[in-house]
Amino acid sequence: MASKEIDVIDLVLRDHRDPDTKERMGILKEMMLVLDRDDVWTKIEPVLEFLNIHVTKHFKNEEIMIVLMLRDNKLTDVETHVIHEIIEEHKEILGYFNELIAIAKNYNPSDRTLKEKFVEATHNIFEKLLLHAKKEDEVLYPAARKYMTAQKLADLKVCITK
Ligand SMILES: [Fe+2]
Ligand SMILES: [Fe+2]
Repeated sequence: MASKEIDVIDLVLRDHRDPDTKERMGILKEMMLVLDRDDVWTKIEPVLEFLNIHVTKHFKNEEIMIVLMLRDNKLTDVETHVIHEIIEEHKEILGYFNELIAIAKNYNPSDRTLKEKFVEATHNIFEKLLLHAKKEDEVLYPAARKYMTAQKLADLKVCITK
């Protein structure tokens, strides 16, 4: 049973180290440096769509896990508090992604304000995501390994999107 526990939680956690996501994050970072080129925006949009779908899926999986973890109220106050912060951060980060997709779709190369907004929102995402994943590695996943019973793990396995 011990190995099964690690399996399903790892399935959710592995998105933190997904090479495809890392690669596209890299592309996004590079593109931020060359925003003055005309063709950049047609390339940014699919990268953003990918990241948004990927992040949305990962956040949903984590939130399913969180609902299961919270179900019988075994967590400490600190753990519960941090987990609620994590849920709020999901909303915030998805908001930044939506903002970026809207900018990429409506982009007009002569609009400097839009360009500045794009750079700012992208910085916010990188900054937030890094701290967010760190918080999860330190609090959420250790708590998941502590509180997820065999039944909860089985429920999680059925509900997550792979
Ligand atoms: Fe998360
Ligand atoms: Fe995560």
